[in-house]
Amino acid sequence: MKKHNVLITGGAGYIGSHTAVELIEAGYGVIVADNLYNSTLAAVEGVRKITGVDVPFEQVDCCDEEALRGVFERYEFDSAIHFAAYKAVGESVERPLKYYENNVGSFVVLMKLMGEFGRRNVLFSSSATVYGEARELPVTESTPRLPATSPYGNTKQICEDILRDCVASSEGGVCGISLRYFNPVGAHPSALIGELPRGVPGNLVPFITQTAAGVRAKLSIFGNDYPTPDGTALRDYIDVVDLARAHVAAVSRLVEGRAEAGYEVFNIGTGRPVSVLELVRVFEDATGVRLNYGFAPRRAGDVPAVWADVRLANEKLGWTAVSPLADTLRNAWKWEQKNS
Ligand code: UD1
Repeated sequence: MKKHNVLITGGAGYIGSHTAVELIEAGYGVIVADNLYNSTLAAVEGVRKITGVDVPFEQVDCCDEEALRGVFERYEFDSAIHFAAYKAVGESVERPLKYYENNVGSFVVLMKLMGEFGRRNVLFSSSATVYGEARELPVTESTPRLPATSPYGNTKQICEDILRDCVASSEGGVCGISLRYFNPVGAHPSALIGELPRGVPGNLVPFITQTAAGVRAKLSIFGNDYPTPDGTALRDYIDVVDLARAHVAAVSRLVEGRAEAGYEVFNIGTGRPVSVLELVRVFEDATGVRLNYGFAPRRAGDVPAVWADVRLANEKLGWTAVSPLADTLRNAWKWEQKNS
C-alpha cells in the first residue's frame, strides 16, 4: 500500500518533532519543514534516531512563499500539519507585528499552496488559550472563545478562523481540524527529543526541571490565593507523546474520510485538573529530587483554572491521554539532565 505522506511545518520544534515520530511509527511518511528559528537540527536527528528513518528535512521559512512552493513541488503529500509559529506570550505583547506577520503570514502561505497544489488535509496547532478565562469548566469545544488576552492568543484564533473559512469556500477544497492543546509537557522517553526553551523558561515544567538541575535557584509559584483547593492555579498537563498521538488520530480521521464536517475542532488534554503545588509534589516523588520553591504574587494574565472536557476527542478521534503524570515528569527530568 502506498504510504501517506504528511508535511510537518515546524517539525523540528517541540511538539512537531514528537508528532513526526508518532506519525512514522504509525506508518506515515513525513517531510519536516522548519526555519530552525526556535529549534535545532538535533531534533531532526533525534527523530531519525528514534525511528530509524532518514526523514527528509527542508530548512525553509513558511512565510517565504517561493521557498515553501519548492517543497510542494518536490514532495508528494496530501496532508499538512502546521506547527510553525512563535509562542512566547509575553514577547507577543511587546512585539505584536512579529507575531501577526509570522504566525498568520505563514499559515496564509500554507493555505494558498494547499489550494494551488490540490492538497487536501490541514491540521492546525491551536491552543486552549482561545478560551481565555472560560466561564464554564471543564471547557468543551462549544464553550465560547473569548477575546484573546495576547497577540499570540489572537493569532491562534485568527488561524482557526482562516482554516474554517477556507474549508467553507469553494476555492479551498480542503478539510481541516484544529487541535486545541492544553498544557503540553514532558519529553520522549528516549530523551532524544524534548523541549528546548530559549532563555529563562516562561512555562512551569521547564522551570521546574531547570531548578532541579541547579540552572535556576528557585521556582516561584505564581499565586497561592486562587479559589482552588490548595490556592494554586489548576491546569490540564498533557504528555507530549500523548499529544503527538492525537495528531496521528486526527490525520487518520481526515485521510480515511471519517470527518463528520469539513472543519472540526477538538480539545486535547487529559480532562484532569492539576494544581501547581500538586505538580511540584508529583515531580519530587517521581524523581526523588527536592525542589527549592516559594510563593510569589499571581502572574498577570493567568487564569485561576482551565482544563479540558475531552469526551469529543475520546469519542470521535478514538484517542485518550494515557501517560501517568509521574512518568511524564520523569521523562522531562531525564531530558533536562541530558541537556543542562
Ligand atoms: C501558557 C500560555 C498559553 C500557552 C501555553 C503554552 C499564558 C498566560 N498562557 O499557558 O497561552 O498556550 O503557555 O505552553 O502565558 N507557573 C508558576 N511558576 C512559573 C511558571 C508557571 O507558578 O515559573 C504557573 C503559572 O502561573 C500557571 C501554571 O504554572 O498557573 C502553568 O503555567 P505555564 O506553563 O506558563 O502555562 P499557562 O500559563 O497555562
